Amino acid sequence: MLQPEGRVVLVSGASRGIGAAVARHLLGLGYRVSLGARRPETLAEVTADAPTERVHHARFEALEPASHAAWIEAAQAQFGRIDGLINNAGILARGTIETVDEATLDLAWAVNVKAPLNLIRLTLPALRRAGHGRIVNIASLSGKRVRNDLVAYSMTKFAMLALTHSARRLAWDDGVRVTALCPGFTRTDLVADVASIAAAEMTAPEDLAALVGTLLALPDEAAVAELHVNCRLEDRF
Ligand SMILES: NC(=O)c1ccc[n+]([C@@H]2O[C@H](COP(=O)([O-])OP(=O)(O)OC[C@H]3O[C@@H](n4cnc5c(N)ncnc54)[C@H](OP(=O)(O)O)[C@@H]3O)[C@@H](O)[C@H]2O)c1
Repeated sequence: MLQPEGRVVLVSGASRGIGAAVARHLLGLGYRVSLGARRPETLAEVTADAPTERVHHARFEALEPASHAAWIEAAQAQFGRIDGLINNAGILARGTIETVDEATLDLAWAVNVKAPLNLIRLTLPALRRAGHGRIVNIASLSGKRVRNDLVAYSMTKFAMLALTHSARRLAWDDGVRVTALCPGFTRTDLVADVASIAAAEMTAPEDLAALVGTLLALPDEAAVAELHVNCRLEDRF
């Protein structure tokens, strides 16, 4: 297994929810982390208990590609290397085929697909240099099967699966391993108004964080392309 010490992992959307849980877990394991959030001041609470020399905060606004490049540059300046990228920031786009508007479609595509693609493009040179680079895309079971009418969300998460497999092919020979982590309902603000399942029956963000920790530690020869996480019975995934 790969050891955390000295390795640097970037987490997008680390202000709350799954991203915050992943950031805390990786810090607990001993990783150095660079966290991206649209309001970096929200990260202070996430890293309050961590040693400052292992923490970097940056502004990351998915809709502003210039902020992506500035974040990656600042993380490299701070730590001198990048070993992992967790593409976590995402939004739940509402609307069915009949009701979804153009602005919602464009926003979901920009945040859930284009920004993760750009972060992969920007970090790949460093991940290749690292020798055992790792990318975890927080996709969704909504990227594997359609079980609701939120068409824009499903479309973007299916696209994230395609992005994952494309990245796997591109950088495999350089030791970069890429995983689509596909949870179902997870207890965060994103699904706070869901009534069909009780919050207590949803997956805990901390359990997904533990899976991310395992994915980062697995050697090149134990790569996991997709990891499907169930909080309730699914037919196939
Ligand atoms: N919760 C679930 O049931 C579930 C299930 C499957 C997959 N997922 C996926 O897991 C990921 C994390 O979701 P979550 O449940 O933790 O949701 P969440 O609690 O709503 O957190 C979303 C995160 O994304 C960030 N974000 C949203 N728009 C952004 C933008 N334009 N630029 C930069 N950051 C932005 C948010 O930042 P702010 O704090 O600034 O808003 C926040 O940090 C998402 O990709 C989601 O699709 C969630």
